[in-house]
Amino acid sequence: MCGIVGYIGGQQAAPLLLEGLARLEHRGYDSAGVAVLGGSSGPSLRVAKTAGRVRDLADAIPKRFAGRAGVGHTRWATHGPANDVNAHPHLDAKGEVAVVHNGIIDNAGTLRERLADLGVELVSDTDTEVVAHLVGRSEADTLEGKVSEALAQIDGTYGIAVLHAGFPDRIVVARNGSPLIIGVGEKEMHVASDLAALVRYTTTVAHLEDGEIATVTASGFTTYRQDLTPAARAATKLDLDPEAYDAGEHASFMHKEMLEQPTAAERVLRGRLDERFGTAHLGGLNMDARETRAIRRVKFLGCGSAYYVGQMGATLLEELARIPSDAEAASEFRYRNPIIEPDTLYVAVSQSGETVDTLLAVQEIRRKGGRVIGLVNVVGSAIAREVDGGIYLHAGPEVAVASTKALTTMFVAFSLLALQLGRVRDLSVADGRRLIAGLTRLPEQIESILDREEELAEVAVELSRAQSLFFVGRVRGFPVAREGAQKFKEISYRHAEAYQTSELKHGPLALISPDLPTVAIVPDDELTDRNVGALHEIAARGGPLVVITHETVDLGELDARRIDVPRNERELDPILMTIPLQMLAYRAALELGHDIDKPRNLAKSVTVE
Ligand code: F6R
Repeated sequence: MCGIVGYIGGQQAAPLLLEGLARLEHRGYDSAGVAVLGGSSGPSLRVAKTAGRVRDLADAIPKRFAGRAGVGHTRWATHGPANDVNAHPHLDAKGEVAVVHNGIIDNAGTLRERLADLGVELVSDTDTEVVAHLVGRSEADTLEGKVSEALAQIDGTYGIAVLHAGFPDRIVVARNGSPLIIGVGEKEMHVASDLAALVRYTTTVAHLEDGEIATVTASGFTTYRQDLTPAARAATKLDLDPEAYDAGEHASFMHKEMLEQPTAAERVLRGRLDERFGTAHLGGLNMDARETRAIRRVKFLGCGSAYYVGQMGATLLEELARIPSDAEAASEFRYRNPIIEPDTLYVAVSQSGETVDTLLAVQEIRRKGGRVIGLVNVVGSAIAREVDGGIYLHAGPEVAVASTKALTTMFVAFSLLALQLGRVRDLSVADGRRLIAGLTRLPEQIESILDREEELAEVAVELSRAQSLFFVGRVRGFPVAREGAQKFKEISYRHAEAYQTSELKHGPLALISPDLPTVAIVPDDELTDRNVGALHEIAARGGPLVVITHETVDLGELDARRIDVPRNERELDPILMTIPLQMLAYRAALELGHDIDKPRNLAKSVTVE
């Protein structure tokens, strides 16, 4: 999704803005632009913007582009196509105001008409341009006043940064539903929508809250509420490792992040297991034993892969804690006027903590009096702030669009939740300890799968030749198949569809042919025989098979390529079966020559509905 950067201080802004934008590239975008304030004969705006990549923008910047204050943007098209004109920054009619914006202005249509009636010529198709005109036309004396007046007319979501030639000593920023972070440097200040753009320069930051405006000058910042009443906000020093935002020796962030899974799994477990009582301690849930026992149902909400892993969590929780559980796409939930029950625990699952569909689902539940906890990776993100309690994933920054290590930590966190909820109900201490032993084995087992990259690459190359693939699994294996198909389609752009193995006969079997490989999830469990039976039906129709399974599973005479993964406790097997699927997707995409970290049409954090 769109990204914002800003700089004000003693250095030339443009190179810093370009560097910041390059660090936001992973979020997904289709055009980019910068504006700086400079000039010897009084400050004026210089703007460069272009459809395409940040490197195209760097080429498009003219030689004379001096200025020590500036804003930059990567755009992911929502209103109007990706072209030079629609790229941000957008200017007012006099060319004095430059605005970059993340989010969506819902009443842009009305505002455009109103401005047109006043004789304003709008040059772009965007919703953002109206903000520049509203700021430019405001008669307030201060830039903060102008921005405040403009925002008062806007419905929708925004993170914005505004430059004004008449106020060259400041950038004014504001937030409503789209992240905006201020980074404090030595006699210089940075602004960004994502920490990734800041960490090279500073780890002392302040997160704006929704409904706040801030003035950022070279020497500091001041925050206000939107009506300009003071809202004191201090910067805090974050314990962040800037190296975590570099791919280092890896060819892509996705590869780096897959390989980080064993340590990420260890981190989410750290300090949370209680072997003696066979349980987990999750202090952040903010629930006492009585409240925990009163839960009658658990509902997981997330989008995309976070939804699929939520489905793994629901199965796990139901098996271990014996609480009826299910998962639902957060993007659909709100639209069916859901019944919110007081004895249901809602679990919002989100790596970024900024996915707007999940955030809006959380707000809907809270509005109706429900209790929501968050499983979130990004500390201090919107969802983390909105929920009643939660579990931080401690996966470290996840940069690649295709989520890997965050999902693994989500699954591990679900296991902790299942332990804690299960142990105040039916789960025996012996079963609790069995699970803890299994969780402790997980990191090493994940590592042993990742070590087999070259073996998996051979299979991936074969799969990459197919235009269409099936991923199948049952019960615990079905969300694994869904996530496998998701990863495959996201980065290889091949059509990959997940089905319950049990559903094949009810329709999809008609598509089986030598051109359509099936990747089947077949753990050694109570469904093995049925699963293997279904695979014979596929083989009998000439369908090529790749089977993710356990060494102990007898596939008989089946003509299949098998990939054995280590066994753990049956409840934890799904995550171990997910790891080879990530690698298959990754190596297939690599074989096809795709840009792994920037899959086409996709964005890292989906901050618009
Ligand atoms: C897939 C992927 C997406 C995200 C989804 C939710 O690899 O990354 O499907 O899982 O957009 O994102 P978060 O977890 O940030 O809410």
